[in-house]
Amino acid sequence: MPLFSEEFLEELSQRNDIVDVVSGYVNLTRRSGANQFGLCPFHGEKTPSFAVNSEKQIYHCFGCGKGGSVINFIMEIENLSFPDAVRFLAKRAGMEVPESGHDENRGRRTRMLELNRDAARFFYEQLIAPSGQAGQAYVAQRGITSMVKPFGLGFAPDTWESLTRAMTAKGYTRQELIDAGLARVGKSGSLYDYFRNRLMFPVIDVRGSVIGFSGRILGDGEPKYLNSPDTLVYSKSHSLFALNLAKKSKCGYILLAEGNIDVVSLHQAGFDSAVASLGTSLTGEQARLLARYTSEIVIAYDSDAAGRKASDRAISILQPLDMKIKVLTIPGAKDPDEFIQKNGPQAFRDIIEGSGNQIEYRLAQIQEGLDLSTDQGRVAYLKQSAKLIAALPGSVEREVYGARAAEKASVSKEAFLGEVSRIRKQNASAARKQRNKEASAPLRHAQPQSRALRYENVPSARAEEGVINLLCRFPEQFSDLPLREEDFTSPALGQLYGAITRRLKERKAISMAALGEQFTPEEMALLSGILQHDEITAAASEQAMADYIKRIQKEKDRSAPPEDLRGYAEKMRQTKGYGGNDGK
Ligand code: GTP
Ligand code: MN
Repeated sequence: MPLFSEEFLEELSQRNDIVDVVSGYVNLTRRSGANQFGLCPFHGEKTPSFAVNSEKQIYHCFGCGKGGSVINFIMEIENLSFPDAVRFLAKRAGMEVPESGHDENRGRRTRMLELNRDAARFFYEQLIAPSGQAGQAYVAQRGITSMVKPFGLGFAPDTWESLTRAMTAKGYTRQELIDAGLARVGKSGSLYDYFRNRLMFPVIDVRGSVIGFSGRILGDGEPKYLNSPDTLVYSKSHSLFALNLAKKSKCGYILLAEGNIDVVSLHQAGFDSAVASLGTSLTGEQARLLARYTSEIVIAYDSDAAGRKASDRAISILQPLDMKIKVLTIPGAKDPDEFIQKNGPQAFRDIIEGSGNQIEYRLAQIQEGLDLSTDQGRVAYLKQSAKLIAALPGSVEREVYGARAAEKASVSKEAFLGEVSRIRKQNASAARKQRNKEASAPLRHAQPQSRALRYENVPSARAEEGVINLLCRFPEQFSDLPLREEDFTSPALGQLYGAITRRLKERKAISMAALGEQFTPEEMALLSGILQHDEITAAASEQAMADYIKRIQKEKDRSAPPEDLRGYAEKMRQTKGYGGNDGK
């Protein structure tokens, strides 16, 4: 049963114009018809492919394929469920939320958070108890002293079911333990603890809820870390370890490290704004989460090749968010933890203060491995650095760093900036070509972005997309199409078609908000992509519809001949003059 009435959802959508809402997060810089474009907040990009359509009240990114209604946008960017996104927008528009029905997940979520909190408390008690010696010894060995409590560190004993027993005694069910990722089902059917003999790091969100765990093995062994699986309350790619503490820091920047141990060690040394992404390389969602709390990031990743690569990736994800970025190089140690253990906090502070910003870092990286005393080396440096500087958005920045790079390459500043402006023109023209290509290819993506929605039969699925596009855009022109959900080769498209035709039959408008309650974000993204196309005009729509149906029929004929479809196409040909007359 839907949680909200359609009238309410419609009013909510009307009072939250998608352009207004999106503008709070994305700088919309270019207009093309009803579409306004900006840099996509969901993936790193340099030229805008994120479109918001004021007429259709949908958004769609041509780069990453995300899309949907204003509610889907808030779900994605604020990391909320559908009901919570609705509540968020209601609050924004000053509307009361009529709470009909009940949100079944809400209760489950609350229970899971309680269970996680109890589990964290259990692990903590195990660590400080006399029996927690192994854990205590490891904590001491890693030099962790004052940070056990602030982080709520704990110890998962080396047994199969201590947590399961303790939580069961508190009244949690088998299923609740499994769902929270704390226990698994063994061969015999009984539960066993997922985390055993590990130092436990609770992952706590900015509201202070324990949403998951990360467990480090004591000493060497594989796997080094075991993480909670994604659950109803936990998504690794949307969370940052220690952000609950770092958000209170007054230092003005957030330190981004790789390891949990680094983060604990940094906090202990007084760097109270350290966080880590949870074993994934930084994601767009994590970057946006960071952007809510700071405008400056200091990247302190490991010194090895993997850490460098991760830094580059993080820069490319943070850059479009307009953040000031510094990258540390940590000399003589593999990571911040080792550096601080060796050299102390002040030495680390010196690195932060002495380190350049990301442009300097990248220029230094280009220089590395080149011999600037040779012509060859200088030419290579000139080429690569000009490319880097051409990508900088601000003209002042380009001047400043251009002058510096020119000096390194031993050319005049004017010559260097001339090269930069040549590259910028080239880039702009390539971007324009790309946009034109996107606009002219009617159904550019052969496959939906989401793998789960993959098309089995692409030619048929494209025609199915066409049917949905025309139905949504010209509903009054089509009634009683001879297509059933089962005729669709793509189950998702079939279901969308079914829902849309049911609405039309009930004389309801096609409401993206109402569909959003019924369909997953991936399915809504698919729909928003389909609705972006308006190459086919009203005048051509009947002919196009007939062609689509013919195509679906032809593809279907290859398996079983569908009498009804064939009959309809025949009938249309004979009666309504689809074959040549004006058709009006
Ligand atoms: P130390 O070696 O004790 O310094 O560990 P660390 O906390 O610094 O971690 P490390 O730099 O090796 O790894 C960085 C992060 O990657 C960790 O904090 C984990 O989140 C993640 N990670 C490391 N090893 C594993 C693993 O085996 N499995 C998973 N899932 N994640 C891992
Ligand atoms: Mn490490």
